[in-house]
Amino acid sequence: MIPKHYPPTEACDRFFAALQEADRSAPQIPSEILTKLCTNWGNEGWPAKEELLAAIAAHAWETPGTILECGCGLSTVLLALIARHKGQRVVSIEHQGDYATSIRSTLRRFDLANVEVLFCPLVAHEDYDWYEIPEGTFGEQEISLVVCDGPPEATRGCRHGVLPVTLPFLRHGAVILLDDVQAGGASVLARWKKEYGLDAVIEGVVKPYGRIVIP
Ligand SMILES: C[S@@+](CC[C@H](N)C(=O)[O-])C[C@H]1O[C@@H](n2cnc3c(N)ncnc32)[C@H](O)[C@@H]1O
Repeated sequence: MIPKHYPPTEACDRFFAALQEADRSAPQIPSEILTKLCTNWGNEGWPAKEELLAAIAAHAWETPGTILECGCGLSTVLLALIARHKGQRVVSIEHQGDYATSIRSTLRRFDLANVEVLFCPLVAHEDYDWYEIPEGTFGEQEISLVVCDGPPEATRGCRHGVLPVTLPFLRHGAVILLDDVQAGGASVLARWKKEYGLDAVIEGVVKPYGRIVIP
């Protein structure tokens, strides 16, 4: 069951205090602050973990182009925080309408409405499902960073779709951060290696994620 509010009301002040500390220390946000963000966010088991959040902050800070996020949540708040420093475009796509509404409301509450959270239902492609991104959302080679933490791994084809669907919009040198590579993500990486010749670097100890660079 997806909670209605992020963070829950009783943890809101603590979350906001951690967010302010994160803002002051960006992009090298100390791990104890990331832990405070995770602990007070709620939604047990679903949000990105500290290691991935640290990588997201560092890559978002360095990346020159638009950032695409697949699957919104705590990571969206962090991306909004970083992008606000740089005046950068961030688009987060989400297949659950109520959840997207809830995250939009959280972003407004913390004055971080600079991210476009788009409700994009999943649609069937040949052997995978992927978000239906409205035509014209991205220009050719606009995106330089993709944070892929959705849709849930059990989705048909897992997260394979991010590559074929967004490839025309990815810059040379664009980075994809793909979470959950020990589970369903492993087959996605194997497929990308076979079909696209792409190698992934596996990072993170607690919950590994893959980093893929588009040539
Ligand atoms: C791994 S989550 C994305 C987490 C997000 N990147 C974050 O840092 O919070 C992937 C998808 O799971 C779904 N989801 C999130 N919380 C959920 C919950 N409590 N129960 C069921 N589905 C959930 C949402 O559709 C979300 O896009």
